[in-house]
Parts: sequence; C-alpha cells; structure tokens
Amino acid sequence: MGHPGAPETSVVSDSPRRTREIGEAIGRLARVGDVVLLDGDLGAGKTTLAQGIAAGLGVAEAVQSPTFTLANEHEGRSAAGVPLRLYHIDLYRLAGPEDLDGIGWDEYAMPADGVTVVEWPERAVGLLPDAYLLVRLEPAGPDRRRVTLISVPLDGPFAGRLDAVRDAIGNQT
Ligand SMILES: Nc1ncnc2c1ncn2[C@@H]1O[C@H](COP(=O)(O)OP(=O)(O)OP(=O)(O)O)[C@@H](O)[C@H]1O
Ligand SMILES: [Mg+2]
Repeated sequence: MGHPGAPETSVVSDSPRRTREIGEAIGRLARVGDVVLLDGDLGAGKTTLAQGIAAGLGVAEAVQSPTFTLANEHEGRSAAGVPLRLYHIDLYRLAGPEDLDGIGWDEYAMPADGVTVVEWPERAVGLLPDAYLLVRLEPAGPDRRRVTLISVPLDGPFAGRLDAVRDAIGNQT
C-alpha cells in the first residue's frame, strides 16, 4: 500500500498532533481546484485533519468546524505562494440535498480559486465531483486513528502527489 506510485496510502496517527501533521502535508501539496473529502464517524478527527490542511495552506486564523453556516472560508496560499481560499465545508447538519443549492455547492465542488475540504461528504452523495482526494479516518485504539488517503479516480489529479505526501508523513503502515 505504501509503495512508490501507489494511488492509496495508509498511516496510523497516534495523536491529534500527528493527524494535524498529516493534514499539513496534504495542504502543502494542494493546488487550486483540489477537493479533499474527509470520511469518518463523529470524533474521528476530520476537523483536526482540516486544521492541518489549513496550516499547510498558511491560513493564520483558527479553523473550527463551520457549525451553523455549513461553510467557512479562509485566506491561504499554495506552497508556491499563490493566494487561494480554503473552503471548509461540514455537511453534518445538511437537512437534504436541496440545502446544497442554498450554499452554492457547485462552486465548492469545483473551486475556481481555492481548495475545498468537506466533512461528512456522504451527505452530498450523487453531487460529488469526479476527482478528489479521499481521506478516511478510522479508530485504531486509544488516541490512534488509521488515516487512509486514496486518489479518486486512481489515476486522478492526486495520484502523482501521494508519493510526496508519503515522504512527508513517513511510510509506516
Ligand atoms: N490520533 C488522533 N487524531 C485525531 N484526533 C484524535 C486522535 N486521538 C484522539 N483524538 C481526539 O479525537 C477528537 C477528534 O475531533 P474532531 O473534531 O477532529 O473530529 P471530527 O471527525 O471532526 O468530528 P465531527 O464528526 O464531530 O465533526 C478530538 O477530541 C481529538 O483530541
Ligand atoms: Mg468535525
């Protein structure tokens, strides 16, 4: 799973700080147009990982789950220094798919000027973009989470970047 060129990689995080570091590695590699879906149960570490992505994008302000608005926007920049927005979406409280129109989902699903990170993406099933980085967070013991990164599709825009993420977060499985 961890071999060079693999479209999927998996690592066990043993602390929130480590999960943040994994997010940071993703954020440093992010580009305008990227969508990252964070899949995992309540308390799995989605927001923690999103905070790391924000750090990797140079977002200065605190990142918390957008509770009442579904979407928060932050100013960041790519590793190359290009300004971009981080759109942090949390669909947990989405009442139904019609709510997605209300928040302008289509633009988040294809962000023209930034990177979109989505918690509870399964709430938008059927309306997800064609290509994204899927991050799955699963309990793996006290304070431990298995973090699996999958390029969707396997030859999608993230496939070529997973090696760099692997290098940054270590190759352990
Ligand atoms: N290895 C770990 N990685 C991430 N979080 C961890 C880890 N170990 C323990 N935790 C704890 O798990 C919780 C994760 O909370 P977080 O808000 O990131 O989850 P979430 O998936 O966003 O939850 P929600 O579904 O409510 O949005 C925090 O209390 C954090 O301290
Ligand atoms: Mg959350």
